[in-house]
Amino acid sequence: MTLTHLLVGFATVVLTGVTAAPRPVPAGWTRHHRADPDVFIPLKFTLAQSNVDRLESLLLDVSDPQSPNYGKHWTHVQVKEAFRPSSETVDTVRGWLLHDAGIPVDQIKLNVNGDMMQVNVTIAEAEALLKAEYYVYGDDDGAARVGCHEGYTLPDHVAKHVDLVWPTTHFGRAGQFARRSGTSSAYFGHEAGAPKIPIKNLASFAESGCDTAVTLDCLRALYNFDFTPVSGSKNTVGVVEFEGNVYMPSDLDLFFETYRPDQVGHTPTLISIEGGNPFAAGNLGEPSLDIELMMGLLGSGQNLSLYQVGETSEAQEPADELLAALDGAYCSDPVVGSEGITDCGDKPRTNVISISYHLSPDLNDPTISPELQRMCTEIGKLSLTGITFVASSGDGGVAYSQAAECLLPDGTLEAGNPAGSFVGQFPASCPFITAVGATSVAPGASVNISTSTGLFFILIIAKCRQVKLKNPPLFSLPEGGFSNNFARPDWQQGAVQNYLDNFAPKYASSIFNRSGRAYPDVAANGWPLVIAQGGEFTLSGGTSASAPIFASVVAAINDARIAAGKSPVGFINPALYSPALLGTFNDVTVGSNPGCQTQGFPAAPGWDPVSGLGTPNFEEMKAAFLEFQ
Ligand SMILES: *[C@@H]1O[C@H](CO)[C@@H](O)[C@H](O)[C@H]1NC(C)=O
Ligand SMILES: *[C@@H]1O[C@H](CO)[C@@H](O)[C@H](O)[C@H]1NC(C)=O
Ligand SMILES: *[C@@H]1O[C@H](CO)[C@@H](O)[C@H](O)[C@H]1NC(C)=O
Ligand SMILES: *[C@@H]1O[C@H](CO)[C@@H](O)[C@H](O)[C@H]1NC(C)=O
Repeated sequence: MTLTHLLVGFATVVLTGVTAAPRPVPAGWTRHHRADPDVFIPLKFTLAQSNVDRLESLLLDVSDPQSPNYGKHWTHVQVKEAFRPSSETVDTVRGWLLHDAGIPVDQIKLNVNGDMMQVNVTIAEAEALLKAEYYVYGDDDGAARVGCHEGYTLPDHVAKHVDLVWPTTHFGRAGQFARRSGTSSAYFGHEAGAPKIPIKNLASFAESGCDTAVTLDCLRALYNFDFTPVSGSKNTVGVVEFEGNVYMPSDLDLFFETYRPDQVGHTPTLISIEGGNPFAAGNLGEPSLDIELMMGLLGSGQNLSLYQVGETSEAQEPADELLAALDGAYCSDPVVGSEGITDCGDKPRTNVISISYHLSPDLNDPTISPELQRMCTEIGKLSLTGITFVASSGDGGVAYSQAAECLLPDGTLEAGNPAGSFVGQFPASCPFITAVGATSVAPGASVNISTSTGLFFILIIAKCRQVKLKNPPLFSLPEGGFSNNFARPDWQQGAVQNYLDNFAPKYASSIFNRSGRAYPDVAANGWPLVIAQGGEFTLSGGTSASAPIFASVVAAINDARIAAGKSPVGFINPALYSPALLGTFNDVTVGSNPGCQTQGFPAAPGWDPVSGLGTPNFEEMKAAFLEFQ
């Protein structure tokens, strides 16, 4: 007894010795008490995969327009085999659990994907195994979680074979952020209790210009995007909505009756993940916006798939469930005390997947970074099969999320726009995502619906962060900047260096990470979009709108390539930044994305961290992509 206590005590000292300072409990969570040592938990080891160091070059091989293998995407099975953890990895981790930790062989299980090992151990055994102290934590919504926020230690020979251990340090976002993080929803008033902007007289709005009400016609004119699908029976496109975000078919019809009659009566094709239900009670904002824009722009000749992601107690982040359903990563069997993640790589995969949610701040933090790295790797693996992931860059300017969180010198995030370092968001920060920023038509500027030449674009600069109901203009603060987790890929090096050399403000080096992956990559309109929601027309937007608009453009490019007997475009970032796409963007040069008590970054000619390369000119972009093999 005494000996055991001594050993545990010793382990704790060692751990404290390697950790510089006591780690704070993650924001939003409260530490309640030590976990009961006799309780069994499923402890999961996400195994390191093979060939991850080659992922980027393998992707470039099929995505660089100059490559002889452009468009020759891999099959799902090929990807699985190439990245499967090696037998050395599996044997090392299993051997450690078996021999060093004495866990019975029948309690050690490998998932069907071969990338997750699960054991059934008591809290006391987990603590000894990981040299960690387990506690029970809670958030304000009553969610409870076991974990060890101070960290854990693996033996050296095991550590290099393990990417993540669950449950340990990653807590997900507490409270409402845990599952519901639509980038624009809180900001533009869709969250419960927040105001929204009803349109009393739609007819008068129809008369007004694209600076005061953005309709599908405005988007078509702005992006030279008059599209009728010809490959609808072969092409696929999807949008992701997470638990608690739902839509009403009657809202779609209200919208389609006015703006897209051929879609009246149609709804997206449901791909339910872990029981996701788009008709449950929940927030209407994000799905109404995404689905109406995509179905409206694409028309009835192209079906839209809706990935509705449910919630299991098992997933640390809702993205785990999405990725599990698409490629089998993270999946695990249900066992006593855990529902498991059972939609395991068997869901249909669409050519384009649009995501208007932020899942995590892009923090370089040992409790967050490994998880972001792993999710980004899974996104890259899926891109290798020819999927284009499009995501909103966020609406917080250079701060994180609508709560305007900035990074303080002690490593914590603080809300409310404090002076601090800039914080981006994941998944936009992942280089395998095409991140989309938001623009608006300049007040007073007109858009000729029948022709799109000679337009003047502007980003509306936010003067304050309050949504003033009586006194629009409303605004979007496209999030953009430089990742703290992901290095800058070669394909954007030239465009980004040009910005850093010629236009970037001279902030102290601690304010943003000059060597990080820079984003957004592109932009599309983000305000003020007319949509139907909750039985009435409202104005909505943010980069939440920009992502589905750009995703629709990519889907339409795929439609043309498929008609020409070519592959879908897949991972498009290397092509977007390539000389072949020069001149296919409307360059946005006015505006900025303030935050963290700075003016943020100014837009500039060429790529900038506000509008990326610019907004798309569909016809020209399509022509360029049709040139590729
Ligand atoms: C869309 O989905 C419906 C229902 O599955 C199907 O009948 C229709 O053929 C699809 N449309 C296209 C263009 O593939
Ligand atoms: C874990 O092991 C204990 C003790 O052998 C057993 O009672 C329990 O059912 C096991 N749980 C699972 C999920 O296998
Ligand atoms: C819109 O463009 C068309 C074609 O260039 C032109 O004939 C028409 O006069 C323009 N309308 C307005 C309102 O500028
Ligand atoms: C900057 O990004 C790189 C990845 O390119 C990362 O290794 C480094 O730690 C980051 N620096 C900071 C201060 O976050």
